[in-house]
Amino acid sequence: MQIQQNVSLKPYNTFGIDMSAAYFAEITEENQLAAISNDASLPAEKHIMGSGSNILLTGKVHGLTLRNKLKGIIKEKEDIDHVWVKVASGEIWHDFVIYAIANKWAGIENLALIPGTVGAAPMQNIGAYGVEVKDVIDSVTAWHWEAKTFFPYHNNECAFGYRDSIFKNQLKDKVFITSVTFKLNKTPKFNTSYGAIEEELKKMGVKEPSLHSIADAVIAIRSSKLPDPRVIGNAGSFFKNPTIPVKQYDALKLSYPNIPSYPAGHNMIKVPAGWLIEQCGWKGFRAGDAGVHEKQALVLVNYGQADGGAIWELSNNILKTVKEKFNIELEREVQMW
Ligand code: EPU
Repeated sequence: MQIQQNVSLKPYNTFGIDMSAAYFAEITEENQLAAISNDASLPAEKHIMGSGSNILLTGKVHGLTLRNKLKGIIKEKEDIDHVWVKVASGEIWHDFVIYAIANKWAGIENLALIPGTVGAAPMQNIGAYGVEVKDVIDSVTAWHWEAKTFFPYHNNECAFGYRDSIFKNQLKDKVFITSVTFKLNKTPKFNTSYGAIEEELKKMGVKEPSLHSIADAVIAIRSSKLPDPRVIGNAGSFFKNPTIPVKQYDALKLSYPNIPSYPAGHNMIKVPAGWLIEQCGWKGFRAGDAGVHEKQALVLVNYGQADGGAIWELSNNILKTVKEKFNIELEREVQMW
């Protein structure tokens, strides 16, 4: 394993921000993790990077940055209804979705085209179009830097929530996720409840949905409104959709009869941050190379040379105006480094 110093992370983050890592290495074998834990000459501070699709670099990255390149997919076992598949954390998420569909394994077709690695999926419990990855995760295996051993974390130990997990909180920077075991269905239960999917399937002329056609519909919807990070730097949704009390929602509805909403449990309602941000006039805004995407206001973009500070400042201004106009505090979804 080669440890390099002062490596630019520009090619490794989808925002395309040019910041360097003090120390940098690529992990291609699980046994490198023990070697790193046992090497006292390496910095104790560690940062783990998958595809760099959910981070904003706001300064030089201290410590040791590890880029995850662990690969491999193994079918572990199956019964009449399910198959258990262990996937190395450095596999590309969308490639695994395509692999599962090719094998007729159901459950993740709605999550097609989400950027990132398999290891990042449980971190923020990725979700789209009515499905969250927690619904199909059996367990997560991770190397614990201090304990110097691998631990399995069963689904119910992962504290999964909306774009949240134990790996983003108590275990942040303490473990390196090495693999995720998924429990997928042999008989699909299609989830087309999300309106846009039904609409897209109709447009495609699909009468009987299949794993393929649902993934194709999701790919078409995502491609039509989310910018391709290979073309315009971005990290997907920059903020989470906030949850507010029904009372506050009802009051807002009087002034904004078209405010979209989703039920969010007892006396609470989730409202799309993209809608709130658009109402504040930010959609399509651009200052220098930092901007708000013209088709989806929840996505902040780097048109080229923006630095992390400019994106951060833009996100602060958005937070401020949404708070002023709606008395709602948005929370960032993207991780700051
Ligand atoms: N909307 C606006 N203006 C905008 C954007 C959205 O009015 O600029 C409205 C839409 O018209 C719609 C509602 O807001 O009524 C919801 O929009 P959309 O379906 O695009 O979904 P979202 O709530 O903005 C969430 C996820 C996405 C995921 C989609 C589809 C979060 C933070 N984001 O976005 O996830 O793909 O639903 O399920 O929950 C990501 O996490 O990076 C991500 C892209």
